[in-house]
Amino acid sequence: MKITYYGHSCFLVETGGKRLLFDPFITGNPLAESIRAGEIRCDYILPTHAHPDHIGDLEAVAEQNPNALLVAIWEVSTYYSAKGLKTHPMNKGGWWTFDFGRLKMVQAVHSSVFPDGMPAGEPVGFVIDSQDGVLYVAGDTALTMDMQLIPMTCPTLDAAILPIGSNFTMDYADALIAADFIKCNRIIGCHYDTFGFIKIDHKEAKARFSENRKELILMEVGETTQI
Ligand code: NI
Ligand code: MN
Repeated sequence: MKITYYGHSCFLVETGGKRLLFDPFITGNPLAESIRAGEIRCDYILPTHAHPDHIGDLEAVAEQNPNALLVAIWEVSTYYSAKGLKTHPMNKGGWWTFDFGRLKMVQAVHSSVFPDGMPAGEPVGFVIDSQDGVLYVAGDTALTMDMQLIPMTCPTLDAAILPIGSNFTMDYADALIAADFIKCNRIIGCHYDTFGFIKIDHKEAKARFSENRKELILMEVGETTQI
């Protein structure tokens, strides 16, 4: 499984021969000025919720990738379906098998509404179970006991992408507890540094993880890693 970071919570995951784009928000992220949203090629678009820092470039990406399938919670799927996008609606607790592998939509504790005020259901996370790995993408969320259900209902995780910036989501101390809940020692951080509210001390965050025999990966914007 190949993971490329486009800043904030935007990741391209290449797995099962397909390209999955999570939370496309690039334009307007001062840390992602080197990335051109219009040049991203993907087969799937997976927004975790409808806040602007997760869907800012979604329609532009969909326009550049007319065959891409948007996978989202019912309300978000319906919203984009009405705009002509190809969609697959899901809801929390459900699995669906796509051509890259299986996907489960899971709980996230946060809020969600479209910038135009349209309702967006609830925020979600995803578990991707493919031939070359199992990955949990938490989306914006607080630490929640429900994370304990993931190792009970999904195959063993190879890695997880967790928010660590605090203010809007859990902080890295809570993400460390989340890592225990999901039984995963390899954590890729997201949702930090982009705005003043969520700036973190990288050295301190990484030290907290390694003291607890866990790895916190803070990727450079544009960097690709293999899990
Ligand atoms: Ni949010
Ligand atoms: Mn957010």
